[in-house]
Amino acid sequence: MERVIPKHIALILDGNGRWAKQRGKIRIEGHTVGYKNIEPVALYAQELGVKYLSIYCFSTENWNRPKTEVDFLMRVPIELAKNVERYIKNNIKIHVSGRRDRMPKNTLQAFDTIVERTKECTGMILNVCFDYGALNDIASAINKIKEENIDVDDKTIFNYLSTKDFPPVDLLIRPGGEKRLSNYLLLECAYAELYFVDTYWPDFHSEDLDKAIDDYNKRNRRYGGIKE
Ligand code: IPE
Ligand code: IPE
Ligand code: MG
Repeated sequence: MERVIPKHIALILDGNGRWAKQRGKIRIEGHTVGYKNIEPVALYAQELGVKYLSIYCFSTENWNRPKTEVDFLMRVPIELAKNVERYIKNNIKIHVSGRRDRMPKNTLQAFDTIVERTKECTGMILNVCFDYGALNDIASAINKIKEENIDVDDKTIFNYLSTKDFPPVDLLIRPGGEKRLSNYLLLECAYAELYFVDTYWPDFHSEDLDKAIDDYNKRNRRYGGIKE
């Protein structure tokens, strides 16, 4: 049987710190390698035919880390902006989900540049979740709905989330060994298949993505119904 490629994959880029510790390096070195790993994995996902790839890069809770680490992580989008030509060349369109009111100005500017520069790309959408928390995204959605004073049904709230233009997540992959969602795309993952793997994110490569997709292909997605 032909392998089904999930339309929307959500990745939690976890385990950078432990990857570094294991090698006697400082946490930031893990983030550097982890950050560099985004592009090859994204390119491979696009090659496989994934249409939407969401990546969790900085959560609303990650502000609780030491200032030096937070400051370093705030530079990640600036580095990403330096490689924007490569994303354009590969026809990858970048979208950003998350709060815009707390990050440094140059981080925000880097994101705005990346989004603007890739807006005509028609290939895979890379959704960078940064200062993102599902509960915060839901709260903003509810506030917008309140302003518009409209009735809400099961689907309404999705139209107000930062992911409103994307289909729901089919497959959620969390490297790093933890088996939790850590406030990531909670509603979008309502019917996602969940895949947890011990490999740390900096060690997660194309073959690991293949394994996750192979596992997804063994799942029986019933959506509450019955399948033979
Ligand atoms: C993920 O790696 C990166 C961010 C959360 C920003 P961690 O930094 O959480 O790495 P571990 O979980 O401590 O190993
Ligand atoms: C989740 O990882 C957030 C990102 C990868 C950006 P964390 O390392 O912050 O999650 P917890 O604290 O282990 O739940
Ligand atoms: Mg972690």
